[in-house]
Amino acid sequence: MKHLLTTKELTREEAELILDVTEQMAEAVTGREVPKLPALRGRTVVNLFYEDSTRTRTSFETAAKRLSADVVNFAAKTSSVNKGESLRDTALTLQAMGADAVVIRHPAAGAPQRLTEWLDGAVLNAGDGTHAHPTQALLDAYTMRRRLGGIEGRTVAIVGDILHSRVARSNIWLLTKLGANVRLVGPPTLLPKDIDDWPVEIAYDLDASLKGVDAVMMLRVQHERQNAAFFPTANEYARLYGLDERRLALMPDHAIVMHPGPMNRGMEIAASVADSPRATITEQVTNGVWVRMAVLYLLLTNGESK
Ligand code: CP
Repeated sequence: MKHLLTTKELTREEAELILDVTEQMAEAVTGREVPKLPALRGRTVVNLFYEDSTRTRTSFETAAKRLSADVVNFAAKTSSVNKGESLRDTALTLQAMGADAVVIRHPAAGAPQRLTEWLDGAVLNAGDGTHAHPTQALLDAYTMRRRLGGIEGRTVAIVGDILHSRVARSNIWLLTKLGANVRLVGPPTLLPKDIDDWPVEIAYDLDASLKGVDAVMMLRVQHERQNAAFFPTANEYARLYGLDERRLALMPDHAIVMHPGPMNRGMEIAASVADSPRATITEQVTNGVWVRMAVLYLLLTNGESK
């Protein structure tokens, strides 16, 4: 692996290696007075963010710092991008300052792939348009592995705005590769049209779809990517596709509730469900740091030093 662009391109062995190294990272750092490893000392990681982020950007920064790397945070909104500088020139400028890895979030699908054509170092996709968000899917898979004891044979319902969701796409490819059954649930208007060859079940009735699940992943309704009315009102959406306490009770007792964040509380998920012990939302954030440590470590050292 030289870059991490999508989960579709990972082999099952590569995905399992990342999850195994994630476990090792968590064990190596948890409980230490100074939660740091020297593995990336002298390396520079650049966070190149053209889109808003709370979790992913700070998680990559924390992960890189825990591996003793130097971190440069670049926000397009306060940069010479506003003077018309291109993605290529911006990336080459950062490389000229010694970037060993570039973590990129961009509204255009395929932007991370383009960077690999221009840069010598590793490129990590932190979310590109509606295309892919591989480290989110890896942290979701790691959370399921820990909470459910494994992924093979488990049933995961992914609910809501699948059409605009890079998280859903990355999870579908990763979870099915790892042997899970994936069930997509949402209004027909928020399901992509070209999914006949996706390895998933499709359902429209959330109540029926919750029976027998091991995990339910609620997706944020992405108002910022919606340029049409995909459902009549927010109340109507919550009534048909929101996870509330009545629906939580339809799930098996062991089943967990996931959300990648940020959440629209009261729309796709009720506040009481988001805050319930069955929700893994903050645990997913914690696990995200371990996953990003594992990915940075594997890409920058080929797994050769720790
Ligand atoms: N889950 C996720 O990608 O969150 P941010 O947009 O805050 O990074």
